[in-house]
Amino acid sequence: MSINGQPITETRASKTYSMTAPLFNMSGKVIAITGGAAGIGLATAHLLVSQGAKVAISDVNATNLSSAATSLKASCKDGGEILATQVDVRNRSEVDGWITSVVEKFGKLDGAANLAGVIPKSINIERVEDLNDADWKFVLDVNITGVMQCMRAQIPNMNEKGSIVNAASIAALGGFPKNAAYTVAKHGVVGLTKTAAKEVGDRSIRVNCIAP
Ligand SMILES: NC(=O)c1ccc[n+]([C@@H]2O[C@H](COP(=O)([O-])OP(=O)(O)OC[C@H]3O[C@@H](n4cnc5c(N)ncnc54)[C@H](O)[C@@H]3O)[C@@H](O)[C@H]2O)c1
Repeated sequence: MSINGQPITETRASKTYSMTAPLFNMSGKVIAITGGAAGIGLATAHLLVSQGAKVAISDVNATNLSSAATSLKASCKDGGEILATQVDVRNRSEVDGWITSVVEKFGKLDGAANLAGVIPKSINIERVEDLNDADWKFVLDVNITGVMQCMRAQIPNMNEKGSIVNAASIAALGGFPKNAAYTVAKHGVVGLTKTAAKEVGDRSIRVNCIAP
């Protein structure tokens, strides 16, 4: 295969993936990230502190939070700072207290990435008629009520022209057999995101989802 006569030599194995600098200036911006101790949240935090942002990560997992904070401190550049707080997004007072402490420490809030999420133990096992109450409640509490509680705390504190990004999923875009709780919660994230976007557009705050 070729493009414009040039042969395509890259193979999947030879591809190198790296984090690239954003096309906008994040220096001095204050960003709050849930689920910041692992995965997408931790990678986002690394990218932001390396660009000079002040990043407040939270996570329910204290062990991972501590090692994430250590690695992030090493990535801070050009005024980048890190604040790590143990927060369970299911707990309203913990979420409210966290956002209050972020604004107290950094003086403002420019953006948030609400990424804390879980998958059910019963994924690929239970059909709708088999669903167990504990799994259903756990997944909806973290994946949708948690996002709502974070946005409820963040929006009143957010600067004009701020930005909120919530974690939906490809499961927000269709039906997924034997994955009802997660699919419902992620559909809910899309609805919550669209609703909030219409409510805060007059403050030039953008609210969007990712759907990996
Ligand atoms: N990685 C993917 O391919 C993918 C695909 C679709 C959707 N997503 C969504 O993106 C988000 C991030 O995914 P990831 O792969 O980085 O996940 P991950 O499991 O690597 O990280 C999620 C983090 O959320 C934290 N968390 C879980 N429950 C919490 C709670 N109650 N309070 C606070 N923190 C809590 C975990 O401790 C963990 O550190 C999730 O919402 C996930 O559903 C990811």
